[in-house]
Amino acid sequence: MSIHADIENFMSVAWEATNAAGAIIRANWQQPKTIDYKGAIDLVTSVDRECERKIIDVIRRNFPDHSILAEEETDVQGAQSQYRWIVDPLDGTTNFVHSYPQFSVSIALEQNGRVIVGLVYDPIRNECFKAALGQGATLNTNAMRISLVDELDKSLLATGFPYDRRDFADFYLSYSKAFMTRCQGIRRGGSAALDLCYVACGRLDGFWELKLKPWDIAAGSLIVTEAGGKLSDFSGKPFSIRGHETLATNGLIHDEMVRVASPIAKAHVD
Ligand code: IPD
Ligand code: CA
Ligand code: CA
Repeated sequence: MSIHADIENFMSVAWEATNAAGAIIRANWQQPKTIDYKGAIDLVTSVDRECERKIIDVIRRNFPDHSILAEEETDVQGAQSQYRWIVDPLDGTTNFVHSYPQFSVSIALEQNGRVIVGLVYDPIRNECFKAALGQGATLNTNAMRISLVDELDKSLLATGFPYDRRDFADFYLSYSKAFMTRCQGIRRGGSAALDLCYVACGRLDGFWELKLKPWDIAAGSLIVTEAGGKLSDFSGKPFSIRGHETLATNGLIHDEMVRVASPIAKAHVD
């Protein structure tokens, strides 16, 4: 099979899985939830787990030898472990628990540590953001491009706060304070995967967050770069889905954002 046929096949399985999870989320988001606590404010519902099981079923049925890493209960090493699926079955669980309609399903596929397919699905708006390495990014059937805003002063940004925010509130807020006085607005959507997709499609110009996990950002980061955007850590160093800092922009305001974020990050480390 050619690499293009492979990618098409991966993408169609990713879509089958996200679509199935999306249907479960749509059927449940306005219903009472069964909630467990992974930490003081880190929630997981029976729907997160049901979606994960559904997604894993679809992937295993199609690619029994691939590795899979999913947020809630799956970390399996397949015989063909150059391929690893990275799954967030429900990104934005706190929103979901409160029936606040901003959440998504995020699925990525890595080959030898490099993300080659990414798909993020918003089941409420029925928006499917997807990208394949070297092939561009689409929102439903339309090609996606980043915004043309080239000054931080004219930008709309987004951020999120890690679950240990009760212990590090001042540190996390120091970034918000610094950006608040330099941009047109800051949003806190509550789904990092969607935040990245919103940078990719030009609804946002930049996004920063600390301590995100591979399942939050694997798909969205490929979607950003394939839509023409840029990712790095807060100092402008190469981005990794296993790193501590996520800075994603349209590229045009990237250096300006690094100039704001980097001294704060450095002061904290020192
Ligand atoms: C969370 C969301 C949120 C971000 C958190 C993530 P979850 O994922 O992406 O926007 O601020 O850091 O952990 O727990 O809802 O899958
Ligand atoms: Ca998540
Ligand atoms: Ca999740």
